[in-house]
Amino acid sequence: MKKQLTFLGIETSCDETAASIVRENSEGNVEILSNIVSSQTKEHKEFGGVVPEIAARAHIEKIDFIIKKAIEKSKINIKNIDGIASTAGPGLIVCLTVGLSTAKAIAASLKKPLIAVNHLEGHALSPKLIKKINFPYLLLLISGGHTQFLEVNGVNNYIRLGTTIDDAVGEAFDKTAKLLGIEFPGGPKIEILAKKGDENYFKLPKPIINKGGCNLSFAGLKTAVLKVSKKIKNEEEKNHLAASFQKTVEDILVKKSKIAMSLFKKKHKDKKKTFVIAGGVASNLGIRKKLNSLSIEEEFEPIFPPVNLCSDNAAMIAWAGIERFKLGLINELDFSARARWPLDEKAPFLKGAGIKY
Ligand code: KG4
Ligand code: ZN
Repeated sequence: MKKQLTFLGIETSCDETAASIVRENSEGNVEILSNIVSSQTKEHKEFGGVVPEIAARAHIEKIDFIIKKAIEKSKINIKNIDGIASTAGPGLIVCLTVGLSTAKAIAASLKKPLIAVNHLEGHALSPKLIKKINFPYLLLLISGGHTQFLEVNGVNNYIRLGTTIDDAVGEAFDKTAKLLGIEFPGGPKIEILAKKGDENYFKLPKPIINKGGCNLSFAGLKTAVLKVSKKIKNEEEKNHLAASFQKTVEDILVKKSKIAMSLFKKKHKDKKKTFVIAGGVASNLGIRKKLNSLSIEEEFEPIFPPVNLCSDNAAMIAWAGIERFKLGLINELDFSARARWPLDEKAPFLKGAGIKY
């Protein structure tokens, strides 16, 4: 029988302070025993975006309380956990440091292993919190900071098939919202306005739609939205712009996903095809619907993690920690946070790599 593994996960890479306890039981089933997320929306609202120093201060103020709450809710004794996983990058260095230092302190005092997790790996493995999926699978990660297609071949084994060459799609949603006078973070509200508008009213550009493989670009779209937004006369036109923007993003993601799928199919001819869509923007129901239809057409099984596991959370970090721990990919306590950390960059600095537990 397999050993049951219980991990504490900590996430502070941007503006969410999060802690979670996740368990893989002896049958290999995953249980999220607690998943506490505290968003800093209020702190950053008046600035229209995340201010790193304010975010870091808020993490410092909340982290102990959030971890305590996660432990209490899970009803475990913290002394019985098998390890601590913390996001160590990519993200805002002043924010990452708060979560990682706390994780190191807990690891040192309890004498438990520390796993330094790449935030993107957390998102990449997040569907496994709800469903048993075999590697390889195709992943579209769409969030406020990232937009990329990844071939997920295993834990610590990723190939980036395409990425945004400028802005992330979530950033484009948030900037469009700001131009329409919607308070930060406005991404989710664009979808609501879009439902009331005509999606064909404004013709917006789809940068690099016919070139660059499955790389993406949103900067030109953002500039176009800026120009159009200056001419908006009433609420009705505002809704039309939101709808036209939503449709343009859907079209771009569908076209680029199709290219990524064909690359994936060529490499994995005889394997079952799975397409996972993760990250905060994957909460967008319009995008979900279009990518769901495309997956059926292209014979991929689509998987959308539930909304609370799509946006930033610590359950996905705890889970990535368990997966890495099982491979012996543990870290030393002097591991430094990394602002930049591409997921397909193999991490030679993993000092504990190879130690089997
Ligand atoms: O994954 P996430 O929580 O944090 C990052 O790692 O970035 O994603 C947050 C992003 C924000 O840009 C937010 O506006 C966007 O996801 N978002 C949405 C929706 N819900 C969240 N964008 C479009 N439609 C939504 N329904
Ligand atoms: Zn994220």
